[in-house]
Amino acid sequence: MIKLHDLEFEPFISEGEITSTIEKISEQLNRDFGDKKPVFLGVLNGSFMFASEVIKRFKGDCEISFVKMGSYEGTESTGKVKTLLGLNQELKGRTVILLEDIVDTGNTLVEIDQILKQGEVKDYKVVTLFYKPEAYKKNIPLDYIGMEIPNKFIVGYGLDYDGLGRNLTQVYKRKESKMTNLVLFGPPGAGKGTQATILKDKYDLVHISTGDVFRFNIKNQTALGLSAKSYIDKGQLVPDEVTINMLKAEVEKNEDANGFIFDGFPRTEAQADALEEFLESKGTMVHAMIALEVEDNILVERLLERGKTSGRPDDADEAVIRNRIKVYYDETAILKNYYQKQDRYYGVDGVGSIEEITERLSVVIDKLMK
Ligand code: IMP
Ligand code: MG
Repeated sequence: MIKLHDLEFEPFISEGEITSTIEKISEQLNRDFGDKKPVFLGVLNGSFMFASEVIKRFKGDCEISFVKMGSYEGTESTGKVKTLLGLNQELKGRTVILLEDIVDTGNTLVEIDQILKQGEVKDYKVVTLFYKPEAYKKNIPLDYIGMEIPNKFIVGYGLDYDGLGRNLTQVYKRKESKMTNLVLFGPPGAGKGTQATILKDKYDLVHISTGDVFRFNIKNQTALGLSAKSYIDKGQLVPDEVTINMLKAEVEKNEDANGFIFDGFPRTEAQADALEEFLESKGTMVHAMIALEVEDNILVERLLERGKTSGRPDDADEAVIRNRIKVYYDETAILKNYYQKQDRYYGVDGVGSIEEITERLSVVIDKLMK
């Protein structure tokens, strides 16, 4: 495994496979263009390695140019105009062989196609080392395809991630995680804690309750705990950044987990964004927000009942309980929308026996894990 910037990549296509692919393409090009004096046009930066290997194997006469897609501000009506930088050669009437490292959506190819057609080339062929059929949305024919690959992000052999990785002699793909990550939601008294404990065992997930993480860090006087405490002591809310950093540390302690149950987090849209970005950097995501839905009157009843034995003062007074429930809905309405918009919100009826509710939650989770 390798790391480039913030992302992890794992080996995907070996140097040997790449070489034999290039040999096959080169044979075809020798056969089809050996006596046609083509102009090889390598598209920089990605194709430098591929182009070099193909051209080395070409036995006939040929010319070689490298170009790069660029754009300049045109008139108001034309807007940005695409151009090929570095084209120092008249292509009119010539046979051009375009060498591409990868064709993904095909957007780049369309731009080049237009420019070559305006340049009145005799004919041109498209050669690409890698091709993502699932991503390709254009109808320019690809004449020579090295390898079809799934719609995954790759680096190496000329291809980069944000500038890095072009020098790698084999191809790596973005590491994918098999985690299942859930955000468990529900008003006070909905039975979140009970269900989280059952689900974490049933599905071998790591349960992260932000409240517990806070208390742990403060008790153990970690740097993050001390930072959080300094806000709490001043009666201020702990900033999202401190909270998300604690959470990151917790996730990183459990990199090999099957997944996480986040409990009490995220609470704000900024936190949800931060969580999204963080999990993305780990090659994973929040797969679902599962909310236990329980009617207010039942919650009040349950909490008053709990108050009789728990000794928690906030469980004893109906007005306090109702306010906590209201705060929950005021706070979380935004997050329900946030996940609903992405089809990742699942409401589950939280009224019934513990087993019944676990069963309903399991139906959702089993589907996610398939
Ligand atoms: P297209 O215009 O979408 O076909 O994409 C072509 C360009 O996008 C390539 O020349 C690369 O610069 C970049 N690209 C597409 N897919 C990948 C990938 O998986 N890894 C690295 N660069 C990529
Ligand atoms: Mg390219």
